[in-house]
Amino acid sequence: MAGATVPPEGAAWVDRPERVDRNLGMELVRVTEAAALSAAPFMGRGDGKAGDQAAVNAMRAVLRTVRMTGTVIIGEGEKDDAPMLYNGEEVGSGDSPELDLAVDPVEGTRLLALGRPNAIAVIAASPAGSMWNPGGSYYAAKLVVEAGARDAVDIRLPVSENLRRTAEALGRPVDRLTVFVLDKPRHEELVREIRAAGARVTLHTDGDVMGALLAAYPDTGVDLLMGTGGTPEAVIAAAAVKALGGGMQVRRDPQSGEERGRLEKEGVDVDEVLGLDELISSDDAFFSATAITGSPFLQGVRYERGLGVSTESLVIRAGSGSIRHIRGMHRLNSEHIFGDGRGPEGLDQVVGVVTN
Ligand code: FBP
Repeated sequence: MAGATVPPEGAAWVDRPERVDRNLGMELVRVTEAAALSAAPFMGRGDGKAGDQAAVNAMRAVLRTVRMTGTVIIGEGEKDDAPMLYNGEEVGSGDSPELDLAVDPVEGTRLLALGRPNAIAVIAASPAGSMWNPGGSYYAAKLVVEAGARDAVDIRLPVSENLRRTAEALGRPVDRLTVFVLDKPRHEELVREIRAAGARVTLHTDGDVMGALLAAYPDTGVDLLMGTGGTPEAVIAAAAVKALGGGMQVRRDPQSGEERGRLEKEGVDVDEVLGLDELISSDDAFFSATAITGSPFLQGVRYERGLGVSTESLVIRAGSGSIRHIRGMHRLNSEHIFGDGRGPEGLDQVVGVVTN
């Protein structure tokens, strides 16, 4: 074609062969869409476990079709807990690439059960051997900020100092910062400190993967995530934060004597601070989240009159820095029902629908 330009060697948009196939992001969005579509009929029905099970069935079935050899590093527990996606489970078609996976078919089970915002189906993937395995660590303190403040903060510093530094880096006074915190008794002191420093707090009962996304993504109205949540969720969030160029630090924060004892036995240094490169050592990570319930950030699963069911997903690829918001419209197809396909009465037909 006359006038067509040849990309210069090394241009950012020329795919490098050693990288994981960029189409993987599109495959992964089908996985989270299927999980979200399958969980959605359970919204507000008070039974998060049933919604979780439907999402797991869907996720497992669609994962089987993805061209990869995936190992679940972050799953729903140990092998005996099957039929959840268990740690160490191999998924995918068995072809290359070899990947580590972190999955949460319903992140925010309670949010789903109560019909509250911010429940998502989520998956992160990175080349085999690059994902941190938290072992017996269930809880970790987290600090997440957007790109502009990533070199300014340190989880070892007092809360007020991190807020002061973030404000300075973002060119705003502290009282214009908003901090996402899980609404848990363990955070009473943290919330007091944030308020005393002059910043605003947004409290959420669950869902700190969404909290990390909101903090790392610019202009969401949330500037930082602070506080302790699940360690597996930290690894999932790290894939997104890394791809968004944000900052994240994590430090194990055992919440029971039993957890502390286990870590001591494993010889783990609980004061160790892990940054993004420790959580996911590769720069070639993928992250896909599909909203189950809505939020200002992503629209939840909606049953649209006549057209089918709509979803909204966020797919991020660290290798290229590409961020895609994907609206999907899905036809209900009873041929694609997973597991026993039984949902709440009257909703069977939309349980476990896979996207075409
Ligand atoms: P689930 O999806 O497993 O219900 O996790 C929800 C969640 O709020 C996470 O976002 C968070 O990291 C963790 O639970 C906090 O755990 P806890 O509720 O035990 O404090």
